[in-house]
This record gives sequence, C-alpha cells and structure tokens, in this order.
Amino acid sequence: MRSDFLVYGSPQIGQEEIDEVLDTIHSGWLGTGPKTQRFEKEFATYQGIENAVAVSSCTAAIHLALLAAGVGKGDEVIIPALTFCATANAVIHAGARPVFADIREEDLTIDPFDVERKISSKTRAVIPVHLYGYPADMASLRSIASKHNLHLIQDAAHAAESEYRGKKMATYGDITTYSFYITKNLTTVEGGMVVTSNREWADKIKVFALHGMSQDAWSRYSDRGYKHYQVSMPGYKYNMTDIQASFGLHQLNRLETSLLRRDEIWNRYDEAFCTLPFILPPSPSDSTIRHAKHIYALRVANGASISRDECMERLYSQNIGSAVHYTSLHLHPYYTDEFGYRKGDFPVAENVGETTFSLPLSAKLTDSDVNDVIQAVCGIFK
Ligand SMILES: Cc1ncc(COP(=O)(O)O)c(C=O)c1O
Repeated sequence: MRSDFLVYGSPQIGQEEIDEVLDTIHSGWLGTGPKTQRFEKEFATYQGIENAVAVSSCTAAIHLALLAAGVGKGDEVIIPALTFCATANAVIHAGARPVFADIREEDLTIDPFDVERKISSKTRAVIPVHLYGYPADMASLRSIASKHNLHLIQDAAHAAESEYRGKKMATYGDITTYSFYITKNLTTVEGGMVVTSNREWADKIKVFALHGMSQDAWSRYSDRGYKHYQVSMPGYKYNMTDIQASFGLHQLNRLETSLLRRDEIWNRYDEAFCTLPFILPPSPSDSTIRHAKHIYALRVANGASISRDECMERLYSQNIGSAVHYTSLHLHPYYTDEFGYRKGDFPVAENVGETTFSLPLSAKLTDSDVNDVIQAVCGIFK
C-alpha cells in the first residue's frame, strides 16, 4: 500500500505559474487587469473564436450566458440530468426553470431524442454538457435548436480541448462556458470563461460581470490616467483577477502536453481494467471527435459482486482517492421537491450516477502513482 494519500484531482502546477504569480504580486496590480486581458485573448485564439470574457467560475459563466441570451423568468432550459448541480443552479439564478433530459448509454451526453420530447412553448435554450470531455451530439442538437428557435449554450467545463468534427467545441455553441476550478484540465484555482462569436453578447457579459460598470478597475487606475465610470445595470461581482490569470496563461500553454500525459494514463487504465467486471469509459471511434480526457469514470457492471461505494472504500483503504461524477440531479432533494422529479424518471443518468466512480487522472501523476491506482483497482476483486 502507498504511504501517502493520492488526492483525487490534484493539479499539475509548474514553476512558470509560480513565477508569474510572483511577478503579478510584485507588479503592484493584482486585480482584473492586463494579464486577465492577455489570458482572454490567448484562450479565445486557442478556441478559434473572437471573443472571450474571463469570470470567477463556470457557474458565473453559465449564469451570464443565459442573461446575455435574454433567458429569464418564465423560461425553460433543457439540461442533462447527469451533470454537476451548477448547470441547473445557474439556470435557476437566471430566473428560469431547468428541465432535465436523460443521457445516452453510448457516450453519456444529453440524448437529443429526449431533448426534443422535453421542448415546450416555454423552452428558450438547451445546455449540452460534454461529460468527462466527450463531445455531445452537436449536429443533432443544432438541428433541434434551429427547428425550435432555441439558444445552444454549451457547458464545456470538462471540454477545453474537446473537438467535434475536427473543430473546437466553441465553434458549435451560441455561447460556450468553461471552468478553471482546481480539478479541471486547465486551472486558475477558481475561474471560468465565456466564449462567443457574438460581440454584442460578449460586451454585455463583460458589463454584467463587474457590477454593471462601464470601466473596469484597471482602466480607472492604470498609468493611462483615471477614467470615470457609469453604472448601466445592477451587475454581478464575477470578474477574474490577474493572480488567477497568472495561473491560466501557463496552464493554457501546457494544455496540449497535459492531454498527451492523460491520454497515456487513460490507455494504461483501459488495458489494465478491460478484463474486470467494469464498463470502461466511452472512447470515440470517430477520429473527428476529440475527447478531452478530463474524467476517467469506471462503471461497475450489472451483476458484479461489489457495489460502487464498496469499490471506493477499498481504494480509500489503499490510500487512493476517487470521486463520483455525479448523482443524477433529479435524485437530490432540492430538485425532487421543487420540480416534482421522481426515481425512475431518467433511467440512464440514474444508473450511471449509481454505478460509476472516477479515478485520479491528473497530468501530475507519476508512473508509480498510476501503478498504485492500477494495483488497488485490480485488488478490489481479489
Ligand atoms: C459540468 C460542470 N458544469 C459546471 C461546473 C461549475 O464550474 P465552477 O466550479 O467553475 O463554477 C462544473 C464544476 O465542477 C462542472 O463539472
């Protein structure tokens, strides 16, 4: 058994990030400023889209994306039942109602057939989630969105590097949102980004994200001289700081090499576990689909002699951390009580939520860490 606990989701932070954070501290300007602007530009370039606005989280990003698209009170937004609660909560913060759709067995992303079934006269938007980094079926979703005049707002919290039909996910949404939370492929400790080719929406989101003010603090306090600001709406406090952007700039530079390392780990896991009573995470067979390999979630097969929670306990007893992504939202008390969902409403999401557990997959893992995980998982059935 390993001597120290292997923390699930521990990120790889390089000397470049540490030096950049120190440089920011010594520069005298730590808030939203030139480094945040640079990070926005470089992230937009990476995604191949013109406009990016850095914010404090993906939750904030989804909230502002909905507001910019004019989604609000009385509207409905369709989201997958299997996602992090933030996807639903952001819809509620915008004043709308989240309507759940089931996911597909083959890739665990939102099922376009169920989306179409859930459309009502109040539906204004669909938020696909590229779960674990696997792109949702954007061709079908775009065709549904066009037919019913709906906005397609992507929750790409897991999918900074994902591609669909050879292009980054941002190409396919009206607005696309990203998370830079500590466990994500690119982390700013906490943070998020909104990306859109709609300049007017991007400008609106920028103002929404900082109190509704016409000038951010950097443009007021920089060496270009003080500028007065005006408040045009009661906005939010969702801005990113230059300390966060200092992490982001170098994490972005390392995004592709980190993916190569996670790809190696993913393949080692697949090889080691393919004969055990697990369903391996789906991998795209189509070369035009690129999986961001954010979460490696093993699914305990029907009829296995052990439950998911027992698997996690055995890993824990071997000093290996694991996680659950996620319990289907309709089974959490708030959504059950508020929206009247019941057990059995979303059978695929429910089953995946009850049977999967996620293994450490960070680019930070050494070969020896990976060996420890493999040994511990194989040991579950001994
Ligand atoms: C699918 C999904 N959506 C949204 C979020 C929210 O991201 P953040 O923590 O940056 O607000 C997360 C975070 O884990 C997520 O996994």
